[in-house]
Amino acid sequence: MKILAIESSCDETAAAVVQDGRRALSNVVASQVEEHKLYGGVVPEIASRRHAEAISGVARQALEQAGTPLSAIDAVAVTYAPGLIGALLVGVNFAKGLSLSAGLPLVPVHHLRSHIAANYLAHPELEPPFLCLVVSGGHSHIVRVEDYTRFTVLGRTRDDAAGECYDKAARAMGMPYPGGIHLDRRAAAGDPDAYRLPHPHLENPDGSPCYDFSFSGLKTAVVNLLHNAAQKGEEVAVDDLCASFQKTAVDMLAGNTLRAAEAARAKTIVLAGGVSANSGLRARMEAECRRRGYRLYAPPLPLCGDNAAMVGAQAYYEYLAGHTAGLDLNACATMPIEAASY
Ligand code: KG4
Ligand code: ZN
Repeated sequence: MKILAIESSCDETAAAVVQDGRRALSNVVASQVEEHKLYGGVVPEIASRRHAEAISGVARQALEQAGTPLSAIDAVAVTYAPGLIGALLVGVNFAKGLSLSAGLPLVPVHHLRSHIAANYLAHPELEPPFLCLVVSGGHSHIVRVEDYTRFTVLGRTRDDAAGECYDKAARAMGMPYPGGIHLDRRAAAGDPDAYRLPHPHLENPDGSPCYDFSFSGLKTAVVNLLHNAAQKGEEVAVDDLCASFQKTAVDMLAGNTLRAAEAARAKTIVLAGGVSANSGLRARMEAECRRRGYRLYAPPLPLCGDNAAMVGAQAYYEYLAGHTAGLDLNACATMPIEAASY
């Protein structure tokens, strides 16, 4: 089964052709990042306009690169939630039009589910159940993937997402948007013990084990440290601050994931989302999983960030589960990963 998948939830306009959920025949991504860089972050209105301009060409390119005419496509898939509402609507309306004109089933895909599915493209042997850390610019979740379309959230951020925290800390240190990758690179040259940064330990009111995250204190600590140093005319060792930040963030992400994996008696741990490209997180998880006997999977770097091949991968399993939509499909800015609304 060949699916043409569309992704426009944030600042990449993307289309891909994916066969049977496991093989990307094409994967075209048109990034808007250079434009949003001018403003230090994604400007939603600009994102929507650029998606509208790019989407037809990107979809055509995806079909051409796959060597697949539209007549050989079996379904159209689209990211419909969560994300920037104006951006999502461009993809959803394009997919609806294509589904109507070509007479193809329409498969709505949840963005975080698709980030997890990026792993199915790279790892043919990977099958649920497994435990997944999904970390992106807008979300930080620890999820038990029970089945391809059934999810249980074990932990989530109570404030900022991990990627957002990376980007805001990097911005405060003068790095361009999106700063996560720059902070990651500079961390490699620094001393992780140079600065002490807060690492909150959260609790549930009922005393049950808690796997939630809180990143806003870490972000504020970096901003305050920079302000205080500027007021006193002191130099900040940026590489050392990056390394200390990275160590603290990775401690939080890896620590909660490993505790949740142990409690859930998981055998396999999977990383997903833009922040799964982080070198410190990958290195720590590889070492810990080797030591503790977990199988670890992460997407190859080009599939960590937003793309449409991952949408096509998840769409295959949504389609098999009967999760198709009609032309009344709407986009949603927020939507829990567990909620199967189709
Ligand atoms: O999944 P994604 O492409 O978009 C969302 O769904 O949000 O994730 C983007 C996020 C950004 O915050 C970006 O800075 C972060 O992933 N990111 C990284 C790295 N590469 C991308 N964060 C830390 N280290 C990296 N190497
Ligand atoms: Zn994403």
